[in-house]
This record gives sequence, structure tokens and C-alpha cells, in this order.
Amino acid sequence: MPTTRRLVVAAAAVGALTLAALTVLILLEILELLAGLTLGLLTCALGLMLLVTVAVRRLDGKALRIDGRVKRQEVVLTKVTDALTRVAGSLDQVAEATEAHGSRREEDLRAIRASLGEDRVNTMLVRQEIEGAIRDLGALVDTRLDGVQSALARELKQDYRQIEAFVDLRSLIEPRAPMPELRGWAASPDLMRRLVTHVCEHRPGLIVECGSGSSSVWLGYAVERFGRGRVVSLEHDERYLALSRDLVRAHGLSHIVEVRHAPLRPWRRGEESWDWYDEEATRDLDGIGLLLVDGPPTATGPQARYPAVPALLERCAKDVYILVDDAARSDERAVIRRWLEEFPLEAADHTADHRAEKGLVTLTLTAP
Ligand SMILES: C[S@@+](CC[C@H](N)C(=O)[O-])C[C@H]1O[C@@H](n2cnc3c(N)ncnc32)[C@H](O)[C@@H]1O
Repeated sequence: MPTTRRLVVAAAAVGALTLAALTVLILLEILELLAGLTLGLLTCALGLMLLVTVAVRRLDGKALRIDGRVKRQEVVLTKVTDALTRVAGSLDQVAEATEAHGSRREEDLRAIRASLGEDRVNTMLVRQEIEGAIRDLGALVDTRLDGVQSALARELKQDYRQIEAFVDLRSLIEPRAPMPELRGWAASPDLMRRLVTHVCEHRPGLIVECGSGSSSVWLGYAVERFGRGRVVSLEHDERYLALSRDLVRAHGLSHIVEVRHAPLRPWRRGEESWDWYDEEATRDLDGIGLLLVDGPPTATGPQARYPAVPALLERCAKDVYILVDDAARSDERAVIRRWLEEFPLEAADHTADHRAEKGLVTLTLTAP
């Protein structure tokens, strides 16, 4: 397609050639001047018209082409816009998702931080509790240790006292056979020393003990060495009866110590009843100078040894000494309180008895 400029140049050239031809024709007087001018003007007008038409058509075509291009561009633009809109929508969704994720993450982080904080607080509390428990435990251990230490100190002191008493005993008595054990079920050395020294000082004619065992042998030796008279040991249990008799025999004391079988029988006073040594076994006893209350075992009933005084006091001498073993026990203390209320008895002043391992109380008859 020729450009507008070329068309204009071509039209100008054709016009110029036409004008030149007309000028030549006029000069050659082939054409009259007027007719030549008219033809020239017409040619110019036609050329102009042609130029305008071509130019218009060209502009039209250009405009159409531009229009088409614009429309295509519009379509493309629409597509791009749609695509961009979709992308924007997607971006929005992504942003929303990111935001939601972010806030969820933030929430999660907050929760984690909170739980971490809680855990830290819990850990702190647990730690404080553990530290407190350790402190309490330490204090408890200290207290217990103090308790154990003072108990050990008491035990050691008591052990020493018993060894001392035993050494004293052995300096007073020279046994002919191995001596039966002391402490535990048997009398402790401090009680035995008291009994032996009592025999030495008071020389009672008749010694009665409620409950036979090791003491029967020591008393036998004490009577043999310092005293006069005899010992009657009441024993309810046939097995220990035999054992005690064997012991006495083994030490060659059968002529001094009689281990007497005295089974437990119901014994009444007022409305109350106890298991006490058969009265038949004590009927012949008279003028008891020393009564050792060391049986029957407490397992036979409450205040098991209460009958000792009501059942045997009338068989005692006026200068009787009643020695009560195990006086540290509440049951025995209650029995002693009751005797002191009900009978003309008083506690003898024996300061050493307060320190006796199992508790020892000495009672005597009050002066008439
Ligand atoms: C508190 S114990 C004391 C006996 C005795 N007065 C003494 O100190 O050895 C009382 C009872 O222990 C029992 N008994 C005697 N010999 C025993 C022994 N070898 N082992 C365990 N118990 C014994 C007897 O039944 C006795 O009546």
C-alpha cells in the first residue's frame, strides 16, 4: 500500500506534469489560455479530490486497523485483567491464608509461651515444694536423730547401770553354775541387787516371789550367803515350773528355794475377778518378810497383779517389804495406787528405785 506522502508526491508530480503539458499546449496555442487554466484547475481539483478520497480511505483503513488492534488489545487487556483479577483473588486468598496461618501461629506461639510460662511456674512450685520437703525432711531427720541420740544415750546409761549392778551382784554372790539370764522377761540386775542387799540387811525368814525364774536362783544364793530361812517361788506355768526347778537344782539351792506349782484360778473380790495363784498353794505361808510381786504375766488380764496384796497381806510379817517390779508400766502404777488407797501400806523411801530399769516400788505396812 503506497503511503500518503507518496500519493501526495505522485499527485503533485501528475499535477505538475499536467500543468506543464497544459502550459506547453497553451504556449503552442494548441489550447486557449482560459481553457487551459480551466483544465488545469479541474485537474488540480480532481487531483485534490482523489488525494482527499485516498487520504480519507487510508485514514479510514488505518482507523479500522487501529480499531481492530484496539479491540484485540482490549480482549487481551480483558483477559489480562481477568487473569490479574484471578491472580489478585488468589493473592487475597493467599494473604488471608497467610494471615490466618500467621494468627494461628501467633496463637500457637502464645499458647506455647503460656504453657511454657505455666510449666515454669509449675516447675518453680514443684521445686519450692521439693525444697520445702527436703527442709522438713532435714528437720525431721534432725529431730529423729536427736531422739535416737537421746534414746541411745539413755540406753547406754541404763546399760551401764545394769552392768554396774551386775558387777555388784557378782561381787556379792559366787554362783556354782552358769547363772540364768537377767533383763528381758527376767528381773533386771538393778532389781536383783536391791533384793540381794535387802536380804543382806533385813534377813527375812520367808521370801515369797510371785513368778519363778532367774530371780529364784539369785534369791537362793542371797539367802544362802546372808540370810536365814527360805524362798518360795510361785509358778503357774508347768513348763517354767520345771525349768526353774532344774535351775535351782543345778545351783544346789533346792534346800533353800522351793519352786511351787500354783496354777491360776479365778479369784474374786467384790464384783471383780482375776486369775490368781491357787490359794491352796499359799495357805501354809506365814510371816512373809519379803514379797516380790513379779507375776503372773500381764497377759492374764488387766491389773493382773492386784490380788497380790489382798490375797497375801494377811500372810505377811508386820515388817514386810513388798517389792513391785515393772512399776514403770501404767497397769502396775494403777495397781499400786489402788493398794495404797485400800490397804495400810506406804511407799518406802528408796531413792535408787526411781532409776530402776523397769520401775521398782517398795511398800511397807504403815505403823498402827
Ligand atoms: C516376769 S517373769 C519373772 C520371773 C522371775 N521373777 C525372774 O525375775 O526371773 C514371770 C514369768 O516368767 C515365766 N518364766 C520363767 N522362766 C522363764 C524363762 N526362762 N523364759 C521365759 N519366761 C520364763 C514364768 O512363767 C514366770 O512366772
